[in-house]
Amino acid sequence: MSGTKKKIVHVVGTGTIGEPLIGILSTFRQQWGLDDVTFHKRTPLLTDRSKVHALAHKGAKLAVDKDRWGKFKDMGMEPTFEAEEAIERASVIIDCTPVGNENKEKLYNKYAGNGRGFIAQGSEFGFGKMYARGINDKAFNGKDQFVQVVSCNTHNLAVLIDTLALGPEKEDNLEEGLFVCMRRANDLSQEGDFIPAPEVGKHEDSRFGTHQGRDAHHLFETMGLDLPIYSSAIKLNTQYMHTIHFNLRLKRTVTMDEIMRRLKANGRVALTNKKSSASVFSFGRDHGLFGRILNQTVIVTQALALKGDNEIVGMCFTPQDGNSLSSSLAATLRFLYPDSFEKQLDVLKPYFFQEI
Ligand SMILES: NC(=O)c1ccc[n+]([C@@H]2O[C@H](COP(=O)([O-])OP(=O)(O)OC[C@H]3O[C@@H](n4cnc5c(N)ncnc54)[C@H](OP(=O)(O)O)[C@@H]3O)[C@@H](O)[C@H]2O)c1
Repeated sequence: MSGTKKKIVHVVGTGTIGEPLIGILSTFRQQWGLDDVTFHKRTPLLTDRSKVHALAHKGAKLAVDKDRWGKFKDMGMEPTFEAEEAIERASVIIDCTPVGNENKEKLYNKYAGNGRGFIAQGSEFGFGKMYARGINDKAFNGKDQFVQVVSCNTHNLAVLIDTLALGPEKEDNLEEGLFVCMRRANDLSQEGDFIPAPEVGKHEDSRFGTHQGRDAHHLFETMGLDLPIYSSAIKLNTQYMHTIHFNLRLKRTVTMDEIMRRLKANGRVALTNKKSSASVFSFGRDHGLFGRILNQTVIVTQALALKGDNEIVGMCFTPQDGNSLSSSLAATLRFLYPDSFEKQLDVLKPYFFQEI
């Protein structure tokens, strides 16, 4: 995809993930040498008109389905491309809908080839090779045309295991990883699905518990690792960040000094003295990129403990969807600049924090 071809990124979906992604791509369009940023919106809604106008103001161009073109125009939103035309002219397509696999069957397979890259998000298990920035970059080569960026909580599980149990050498040092994912009911941008009280989730997977553990396992599998991970999930009546309780039993002994050394050495991990997810969220709103902290986890220092001499116990926050956004951007830039995408990512560095 490098060379003289035009570099066009097309985002499908304008929800919690799609909207900031379109905004970030448009903001860094020049630095990243993008010829165009386009986005597809399915539903013409007056309530979403302000969002479409704000994105257009940033330079992103709207694509809509042929049969809805007139409705968008009637509502004062000006489309530039039809849905399939936008896919055809794009170099990278980032699907940010809960129907990425369906879209792959219906549309993307038709346009696969010509070096085009396709990326989908956390719910779309099976879409392509799983990816989390910094965890399994080495598993990719020029042949991977379909990529699934794992969910925000899967990023969190993965970075904890990677930092504390594996390290840069990917040592075989995890006896067992147990996680309880306490999920926010919905995002601030979502009006539906709020719940009045905590609601526990089923352990639907006999080996991994819930999908977060299963996905983390498969993510490490792309690196040839077979890790014992088990997760549980409960939904909380909050709109702030997901919270995760973790228990990592290591094969070899470890000290608290070594744990802190490893955490501080990983730029994708942030530490915090704040105990409330509201305060961490608020920091992101004030200092983040489109309100997002891009770190893959925010670990509460005061809750970190060593049980015995080989069991690390703690609590951490999943910074909204910032980790999925940065992995989506990394995957996009890898398609566009296979040999220099790391350098292109430098502009995002100010949004990775050591301390929150
Ligand atoms: N929310 C998070 O914090 C988060 C974090 C990490 C990963 N993810 C993943 O990101 C993906 C999208 O999640 P989201 O939270 O951004 O969803 P969302 O806020 O509900 O937005 C979904 C978007 O997809 C569009 N869409 C197109 N076809 C659709 C269909 N058939 N059904 C429903 N929506 C359709 C929607 O409509 P319009 O095109 O009309 O706007 C909307 O823009 C999922 O895979 C999710 O697992 C979400």
